[in-house]
Amino acid sequence: MSKKTATPTPKEIAAELERRVVGQSEAIAETSIALAKKLARLPVGNVLMIGSSGTGKTTLMRAVEEYLAAHDELALRPVVARMHANVLGEEAERGRPGQAVLGRLLARAREQLGPQTPIAELLAEARHGIAFVDEVDKIRSHVGGVVNTAGIRAQEALLTVMENEAVPFTLPAWAGGETVSVDSSGLLFVCAGAFEGLYDAVFDRVTIGRDKGALKPVTVVEEGSVQERLEFRLGDWLRNEDLFDYGLSPQFIARFDAVVLLQDLDVDALVRIFLEAPDSGFHQARAYFENRGLSLRLSPAAVRRIAHHAARAPRLGARALKEVFRRVIRPYELEPELHAGDGGVILLDEAEVEAALAPAQGRQQAAR
Ligand SMILES: Nc1ncnc2c1ncn2[C@@H]1O[C@H](COP(=O)(O)OP(=O)(O)O)[C@@H](O)[C@H]1O
Ligand SMILES: [Mg+2]
Repeated sequence: MSKKTATPTPKEIAAELERRVVGQSEAIAETSIALAKKLARLPVGNVLMIGSSGTGKTTLMRAVEEYLAAHDELALRPVVARMHANVLGEEAERGRPGQAVLGRLLARAREQLGPQTPIAELLAEARHGIAFVDEVDKIRSHVGGVVNTAGIRAQEALLTVMENEAVPFTLPAWAGGETVSVDSSGLLFVCAGAFEGLYDAVFDRVTIGRDKGALKPVTVVEEGSVQERLEFRLGDWLRNEDLFDYGLSPQFIARFDAVVLLQDLDVDALVRIFLEAPDSGFHQARAYFENRGLSLRLSPAAVRRIAHHAARAPRLGARALKEVFRRVIRPYELEPELHAGDGGVILLDEAEVEAALAPAQGRQQAAR
């Protein structure tokens, strides 16, 4: 905590978020800066996070929620609500855009400040809150050339409540039920989505599409021979137009000050997530065996094998860890006692992992 302002610095916030989120330093930095500004009640621009499925977008949002829950000493602690973008379209359909966001924030303010707090005070809290909107790529205005009316409505609903000085808001029954006008310009929106297909679309644009030839091959020397290769990083080429093409309206995109990309996770990151994430399949399995008086141990090589297999699964990110580990651990969970050695220890080494995963690979290859 820096003394002068008594609010945490972005670095201090980032250090805490890093305990839950592996890698993703850009997204953590942007989020920490936004949160530090929010805690000082300074204006903050909205943030859009783009990253493949299973790279930590929702985990980062949860980490912020946990951070705020753990720091009730912060004087200007904002209320926070997390929701799926689809919900906003449904609300808008009932003619009440903004209702979902403000309603949830108001409920959170009541939880945080207590039910005795006057409504005006709760509203004041709610309109300085943080709204996490997850799966924002699901509200694209068109999918495969077909108009997506629900998506268009949801984007319009979000636009209504982003940086608006007079949003009509119907108070819930417990707050009187009347309709008031809310200045929502103090809200911080952090939206996230996987934007599947965006990577390929931008790659195509700069190689064979509109900007053909923009991405120049680089010459590399590999195993003694000279080769030409295209090195593509989405972050180097992504422009607002790509997001328009994807189906986010220009007005909607314009509401974001920062667009951050989450990186795909490499084997090292997957190893750390496997060992450290509180919801990791490894921890679940360990708790299960402990419950039966047994202890599960994996050698470092076994963990790496699992991470390697997971890294090869396309478009699943860290979610693949769970799927791969299920295949490995299933027979052990079915008959724990059968596999336990001296002192009730179940030890898995590389060989056990390979043996568990090899047949499945064979099946997949045979199916092709
Ligand atoms: N960067 C990360 N750091 C820690 N855990 C992660 C990370 N990325 C994914 N995970 C783990 O993978 C699972 C899915 O991650 P999630 O954050 O829900 O992905 P998404 O990016 O699709 O929202 C979670 O169980 C989480 O523990
Ligand atoms: Mg998610």
